[in-house]
Amino acid sequence: MTENAASPNHLQLTRDGQLRHFLTLDGLGRELLTDILDTADSFIEVGERTIKKVPLLRGRTVVNLFFEASTRTRSTFELAAKRLSADVLNLDINTSATSKGESLSDTLLNLEAMASDMFVVRHAQSGAPHFIAESVTPGVAIINAGDGRHAHPTQAMLDMLTIRQHKGGFEGLKVAIVGDILHSRVARSQIRALNELGAGQIRVIAPGTLLPRDVESLGCTVEYDMGKGMKDLDVVIMLRLQKERMEGALLPSEREFYRLYGLSQEKLALAHPQCIVMHPGPINRGVEIESAVADGPQSVILNQVTNGIAIRMAVMAMAMGGQVAERQQKMNELNERGQA
Ligand code: CP
Repeated sequence: MTENAASPNHLQLTRDGQLRHFLTLDGLGRELLTDILDTADSFIEVGERTIKKVPLLRGRTVVNLFFEASTRTRSTFELAAKRLSADVLNLDINTSATSKGESLSDTLLNLEAMASDMFVVRHAQSGAPHFIAESVTPGVAIINAGDGRHAHPTQAMLDMLTIRQHKGGFEGLKVAIVGDILHSRVARSQIRALNELGAGQIRVIAPGTLLPRDVESLGCTVEYDMGKGMKDLDVVIMLRLQKERMEGALLPSEREFYRLYGLSQEKLALAHPQCIVMHPGPINRGVEIESAVADGPQSVILNQVTNGIAIRMAVMAMAMGGQVAERQQKMNELNERGQA
């Protein structure tokens, strides 16, 4: 596989197409996404054992670097690394030297000097994990745990695993993503994954103020009326209003937003009777979703959380495997040149 320097894949794939960093779903084909889902499937059983461990990352050091708040992503990355037998370091940014003005580059240089093998990075700036991957020591894998509005690739993959478990596949599926699409890195990664995996219809349902300009170019259709958008859906994915990224007033009020775009039992009844309800979390009850729906029989929200561990185990194991394969390939090439 050849990639030019403008493609994210010159960074995240080895020359023979294996994962070595996981930064974005852009440019990753159906075969690799399916490989991640299949690998995650094989790790689900590990979480059901009394001793929930496999030795794939034994002796490796994984550093969780979260520059933004997180409950689900950070905890499931930590559990995933531990279930792969890695040593895990959680850097508390609030009490780290970052709070004394140390730059991201200097923090990373110091953590690399501790012989770290993998950084899991969440950052408010879009592109921060990509920037780190460009300069990190060869052999160290970078995993994107959510960057700005850009991407949240492991979230989208755990969502795809949950959809595949409940629906058997993607062909012909009608999926809607509802709410604050404008500020959502999750929606961007989900639309990318759903398109690559062959979903039948991908709709976004939102007021115009919460949609990115040219949203259709992401590979979806737009519906402003939730009543129409819910019709015949197989999967509805609700999103939180991301107030921390909002500049100015984009909504008349939360009450008005809930009336028009909140998922109530009445609105859910417009979808296919077997429609599943998803949400990446954290949920805001009574703002984008009614409690009776979030806790109801069609909700798979907590399945998503459980699947986060298996997906993150898969991505970490595959990226470390790609780094090892690449190092071996380079050593072989050096040996061959030395012998020539
Ligand atoms: N879905 C998600 O990213 O949740 P956290 O912010 O809790 O990690």
